Amino acid sequence: MLSLCFLPCITLPLTVAASSLQARQDDLSTFIAEERPIALAGALANIGGLNSSWVEGASPGIVVASPSTVNPNYFYTWTRDSALTYTMLIDELIFGNISLRKTIEDYTTAQAILQTVTNPSGSLWPAGDGLGEPKFYTNMTRFDGTWGRPQRDGPALRATTFMNLAPVLFNLNETETFLEIYWPLILNDLKYVGQYWNQTGFDLWEEVHGSSFFTVAAQHRALVQGGLLAQKLNTTCTPCKQASQILCFLQHNFWNTSGNYLTADVNANQVTRSGINSDPILASIHVFDANASCNTGSFQPCNSKMFATHKTLVDSFRNLSWPVNDKAAAGQAILVGRYPEDTYYDGGAWPLCTFACAEMLYDAVAQIKRAGILSVDSISLPFFQDLSPDVKVGNYTDQEMHAILANMSTYADGFVRAVQQYLPKNGSISEQLNHTTGSSTSASKLTWSFASFITMSRRRASQFPPSWGADTAQANTNLTAVQCKPSSYNGTGTYAPALAAGAPNIAMPCEVEVLFVVNATTQFGQNVYIAGNVTKLGGALNDPGSVILPLNPGNYTSERPEGYVDIFLQADQTVRYQYVLQNGDEFVFESGQNQDRMVKVPECGGEMVRTDDAASFS
Ligand SMILES: *[C@@H]1O[C@H](CO)[C@@H](O)[C@H](O)[C@H]1NC(C)=O
Ligand SMILES: *[C@@H]1O[C@H](CO)[C@@H](O)[C@H](O)[C@H]1NC(C)=O
Ligand SMILES: *[C@@H]1O[C@H](CO)[C@@H](O)[C@H](O)[C@H]1NC(C)=O
Ligand SMILES: *[C@@H]1O[C@H](CO)[C@@H](O)[C@H](O)[C@H]1NC(C)=O
Ligand SMILES: *[C@@H]1O[C@H](CO)[C@@H](O)[C@H](O)[C@H]1NC(C)=O
Ligand SMILES: *[C@@H]1O[C@H](CO)[C@@H](O)[C@H](O)[C@H]1NC(C)=O
Ligand SMILES: *[C@@H]1O[C@H](CO)[C@@H](O)[C@H](O)[C@H]1NC(C)=O
Ligand SMILES: *[C@@H]1O[C@H](CO)[C@@H](O)[C@H](O)[C@H]1NC(C)=O
Ligand SMILES: *[C@@H]1O[C@H](CO)[C@@H](O)[C@H](O)[C@H]1NC(C)=O
Ligand SMILES: *[C@@H]1O[C@H](CO)[C@@H](O)[C@H](O)[C@H]1NC(C)=O
Ligand SMILES: *[C@@H]1O[C@H](CO)[C@@H](O)[C@H](O)[C@H]1NC(C)=O
Ligand SMILES: *[C@@H]1O[C@H](CO)[C@@H](O)[C@H](O)[C@H]1NC(C)=O
Repeated sequence: MLSLCFLPCITLPLTVAASSLQARQDDLSTFIAEERPIALAGALANIGGLNSSWVEGASPGIVVASPSTVNPNYFYTWTRDSALTYTMLIDELIFGNISLRKTIEDYTTAQAILQTVTNPSGSLWPAGDGLGEPKFYTNMTRFDGTWGRPQRDGPALRATTFMNLAPVLFNLNETETFLEIYWPLILNDLKYVGQYWNQTGFDLWEEVHGSSFFTVAAQHRALVQGGLLAQKLNTTCTPCKQASQILCFLQHNFWNTSGNYLTADVNANQVTRSGINSDPILASIHVFDANASCNTGSFQPCNSKMFATHKTLVDSFRNLSWPVNDKAAAGQAILVGRYPEDTYYDGGAWPLCTFACAEMLYDAVAQIKRAGILSVDSISLPFFQDLSPDVKVGNYTDQEMHAILANMSTYADGFVRAVQQYLPKNGSISEQLNHTTGSSTSASKLTWSFASFITMSRRRASQFPPSWGADTAQANTNLTAVQCKPSSYNGTGTYAPALAAGAPNIAMPCEVEVLFVVNATTQFGQNVYIAGNVTKLGGALNDPGSVILPLNPGNYTSERPEGYVDIFLQADQTVRYQYVLQNGDEFVFESGQNQDRMVKVPECGGEMVRTDDAASFS
């Protein structure tokens, strides 16, 4: 158990809720003041520990995505949602809510343990691949069901969450404590980011296998922040040197010139989607730094391309003509969802995406005010002309600038009002709102929805977290497109349980890398899995309940229908395995002699082995 002493850096009185919510439609500020404590209590009620009134049985510090257990079942803990929720809670601590100290300690211990839980994505030792597992049961055990894995944003977001605590401990002269308890935990995640950033994974919506803007932006921030923090701690962060290549990749691959927006995913085989998505908007509020300038390397909220993306996204939802948006014209705020082609729960409006549209603009207004100049270029011009029709390409200062910013703030408020009008009287925020009726749908009481309301309301009130270094030279190594190179930090063999933070001292068995490669032709919607008689391969052959490990289809072509997976298995053993075709809910196992393949894992210290197999499922 940790015994840290947190003190607030800044103390601000928290606005306390009035009891009646009846009259709140009238005034946005009143609504926000009333909703904020409801949202905070809602987020805390979904976390195991002291205030876990909605999630009985969840371990202390474990963030449950939603108390909903059927249609849909969200009673799991996701690394991403948890980190974003605790980023908010740590901000609240910094803003003066010292009662959150205990739950932050609980989260620390829980994450130190989860880092060590071997799961279908892999394990902590030796190669750290298990850190990319997206979700676990709320009792901190592995979830073996079919899922979009790995998701490589999780470790980056978690590292950033814990790094945001550093200023609090530094103010208390507890730098040594931070180094001892938090740094090993953070370093595991930073190594993962440095090692795997240049490999594909699933996006934050768990649907697209590729490279997501949100993920890459979060990875860049984590490694920059890690490099700067390492200097303060007089230590080193070798994986953090990958930051410049991550930025190069982010800068030169996502801008869709013809459509005037940042696309959500590259390296993905998603031909049916436009790439217009809330993903980059969520990225911009995550990498927001109040001290950053608009043309800094990371895509800050006040970056021209972000304004263009905001407009393209919002217009794409406007064009869907949802009844809830009541024919709102250009420049009028509306409810938005994840992406226009979405069909999940009818592809409804997402409060957290709509709040993000507001939050990005509050952030941008603050950044432009601080700079004292608004530079409108041809990329951002259409965004500004929707709000202030007389705007032209050029620079605005003083009253002219303030008039444009006032229109932006009003526009931002419109997104909050758009959600407000459909929230139930008790202030609960679900994952989605039905785009015909506005009623709450999908998971109720979504933790991330509550967290998104709180961060939005803080930015609206000009309350900003400390700078993470977005404007430093380290964050802005400006490489040209031809200088972008594939790269990776090799952390294999250096991942270690964060014992001082509460991780168990797991044994580190000697493992050797095995690369399973197979040619197997699939139809659209089918996936190939591998099953085998060791735990990492599900533990059994010919058993639908044990099929857990999908192959990576990243190299699949019609000429060479390849699937592969690269895992570490205990040295010096024989492993039986087979390939499995997933066709909807059905698993088709290899038959005949191929239902029982064998591979010999070399002795400790041996070279990687590669299988080259061919499978058919008729
Ligand atoms: C959480 O629990 C603590 C201890 O029971 C209590 O003091 C605090 O008010 C609770 N917070 C909320 C937001 O319910
Ligand atoms: C953890 O929770 C899962 C899902 O509820 C359950 O199947 C499993 O038995 C639990 N494991 C332990 C060790 O309690
Ligand atoms: C930290 O150390 C400085 C310099 O010794 C001192 O002025 C300050 O009061 C200390 N802060 C705390 C919270 O102990
Ligand atoms: C790896 O990096 C190179 C160079 O930036 C880039 O072209 C490639 O698309 C990246 N691949 C992935 C999966 O990140
Ligand atoms: C790091 O080193 C500098 C210079 O030697 C020293 O002033 C500082 O206190 C050290 N910081 C930590 C966290 O050890
Ligand atoms: C949304 O509302 C419409 C109209 O009442 C209904 O037909 C539809 O099933 C609802 N969708 C969801 C996901 O609740
Ligand atoms: C706007 O200001 C920037 C920075 O001060 C300058 O580089 C740019 O040339 C100006 N643009 C116009 C159109 O005046
Ligand atoms: C980075 O380089 C590009 C092209 O070389 C240039 O257009 C851009 O202004 C530079 N950005 C910064 C922040 O220096
Ligand atoms: C990474 O490091 C491990 C341990 O030193 C080594 O066995 C492995 O071959 C290295 N992998 C690569 C791709 O260099
Ligand atoms: C898997 O099968 C091989 C070959 O029969 C056997 O040697 C090995 O002990 C089995 N592994 C486990 C974990 O049962
Ligand atoms: C997949 O493709 C990449 C890029 O061409 C290559 O480096 C890698 O070796 C391939 N992996 C397998 C398992 O064939
Ligand atoms: C997989 O397909 C490629 C391309 O057709 C072929 O060169 C290779 O030999 C095949 N591998 C096996 C094991 O059949």
